[in-house]
Amino acid sequence: MLAGQHVISVTASSEMAADTKTTLSLAREEYMAIQFNHTIVLARDSQASATFLADMLGLPSPTRWGPFVMVTTENGANLDYMDTAGHITPQHYAFLISESEFDEIFARVRERNLPYWADPGQTQAGAINHHDGGRGAYFKDPNGHLLEIITRAYGSGGWNP
Ligand SMILES: [Fe+2]
Repeated sequence: MLAGQHVISVTASSEMAADTKTTLSLAREEYMAIQFNHTIVLARDSQASATFLADMLGLPSPTRWGPFVMVTTENGANLDYMDTAGHITPQHYAFLISESEFDEIFARVRERNLPYWADPGQTQAGAINHHDGGRGAYFKDPNGHLLEIITRAYGSGGWNP
């Protein structure tokens, strides 16, 4: 075993035939215990910003917890919006969505006449991309954070810029 590897041993129950008893050794990379849980998103108006994101993505209404207004995605990760009167450095947040969700979200982008781009550098205005055989687009939240919607995870279809 390599140094640093984390091993899980699983032994089959006594009800199983002896020859089916198995011990599994999984390298740490194979049993993913670590999940991304939350990040803080600075905003001028945390309630309005969280509501914008939830409305655009079709997610449940934000909830308040302490100083945060939280939007939770399907994989249980939170974007915790927090008010600030100070400088906001635009950040980037990407959301993996289905093809039908892309139709719905992209329709909202156009209904609101929001600028959108095919690329993060915002050189391809009014266009979407088709990386990895899917669809992707970028648009901004009220604070200038660059939001991205993609129907295929980066590289899942062989795309590698
Ligand atoms: Fe991205």
